[in-house]
Amino acid sequence: MADDHPPYDFRAALHRAADLVADYVDGVEGYPVLPPVAPGDVAADLPPSPPATGEPYERLLEDYRRLIEPRVTHWNHPGFLAYFSSSGSEPGILGETLAAGLSVNAMLWRTAPAASELEEVVCDWLRQMIDLPPAFRGHINDTASSSTLIALAAARDRQPELAVRQRGLAGRSDLPAMVVYASEHAHSSVDKAAIALGFGLENVRRIACDEDFRLAVPALAQAIAADRAAGRLPLAVVATAGTTSTTSIDPLRPIAELCAAEDLWLHVDAAWAGSAAICPEYRALMDGLERADSIVVNPHKWLFTPMDCSVLLVRDEDALRAAFSLVPAYLHTAEQDAVRNLMDLGVQLGRRFRALKLWLVIRHFGVEGLRATIRRHCRLGQELARWIDRHPLFERLAPVPFSVVCFRATHGGGGEAGDRFNRRLLAAVNAAGPVFLSHTELGGRYVLRLAVSNLRTARRHVETAWRLLQEHAERLAAEDRP
Ligand SMILES: Cc1ncc(COP(=O)(O)O)c(C=O)c1O
Repeated sequence: MADDHPPYDFRAALHRAADLVADYVDGVEGYPVLPPVAPGDVAADLPPSPPATGEPYERLLEDYRRLIEPRVTHWNHPGFLAYFSSSGSEPGILGETLAAGLSVNAMLWRTAPAASELEEVVCDWLRQMIDLPPAFRGHINDTASSSTLIALAAARDRQPELAVRQRGLAGRSDLPAMVVYASEHAHSSVDKAAIALGFGLENVRRIACDEDFRLAVPALAQAIAADRAAGRLPLAVVATAGTTSTTSIDPLRPIAELCAAEDLWLHVDAAWAGSAAICPEYRALMDGLERADSIVVNPHKWLFTPMDCSVLLVRDEDALRAAFSLVPAYLHTAEQDAVRNLMDLGVQLGRRFRALKLWLVIRHFGVEGLRATIRRHCRLGQELARWIDRHPLFERLAPVPFSVVCFRATHGGGGEAGDRFNRRLLAAVNAAGPVFLSHTELGGRYVLRLAVSNLRTARRHVETAWRLLQEHAERLAAEDRP
């Protein structure tokens, strides 16, 4: 311990922190999923300026327990049925803890040999688990948004004649507009990547979907042809396996064939549903995935790995290097030609040791254990879909390929009044405490959405959500009657 720090008993504090974490995970169900806080409540309880002198661990941990823990939205709560849940499993939490102890920066192989090599190995495990050819190599980013940005940068810089890396985009009259294609249901991270990479939002073509929310390939082909005819440069297609609203899967094989014919980069956003591809029956729904140039899968979404962990698998990793490798003199190492330096693969230099937690998760559960949980989640989603289909007060609005159900209470009809009713219903259900659901929009209508992908979610949590939905729908409908 350096002299200028207060004396402390690190070991005792770490044991105490371990108890806090274990108690939290064991007892998280005692909290309402959404904390009872209003904007500004948390900040109001915190000192506005930092302490001039150090404080003992005891006080820090006590303040954590009192001011922080009860006021987070509890993503680790089994009643978290909103968005795509991110649940930290016990081995994942262990991995985060151990990685914090090491505090390595895996920018270069030399600065973190074990982190660099484990990242390569564990990403290759994931590649095998989702049955992709050995040509794919993976590395870990913070989020799918970053992974998609990196993939699209590689798609752009794969065209050396554009010289964007060297000359940029601004002020160049010699460059055509560069176009990226994605379905109308693709995630907004595609638009953000287009903003960051200088393509511009108006050069993201949102392609219409069929009635099952899957990208319509003939419309994609037409859009590409129209752009070429207008002198624009089609660059890449982002297909989605598991769209954010309904978890629909774009027809990957025909899209891949079109990309091959048109020489376009195919990036597949499998941020959530890519985890389900470890089950052969769900992998079969993603036929053609192996034809992609890049694929993003977020173990922090449905592989029980704590935030954050997004694996980008790329068929030609040199395309990433062509886009991003830039080695200042101080980062040259004697072994650089013989190793994989992770800083060469994306925007960031410094890099957390995220592979450790993923390694522990896969080892602790085993592939069969992970498959069993994903299948259990999908069964729960299917079961809820059946309950909804049989109930006169509710209607389902999308197929359920995995474990996400989109539905609506029928009261108020299919228009504005129905939207308002469903908003009130969602607010009432979420205010009850034991569950948290979110919403989406389909065909311009407000839609309720229940997603089962939290490790700890069991049948009784979905039953509770369903009971609350029925009770509140009946109560609110009765209130509406004159
Ligand atoms: C299909 C899909 N892709 C990408 C993302 C973005 O994920 P991240 O938060 O990891 O950037 C999401 C977020 O839910 C998503 O649903």
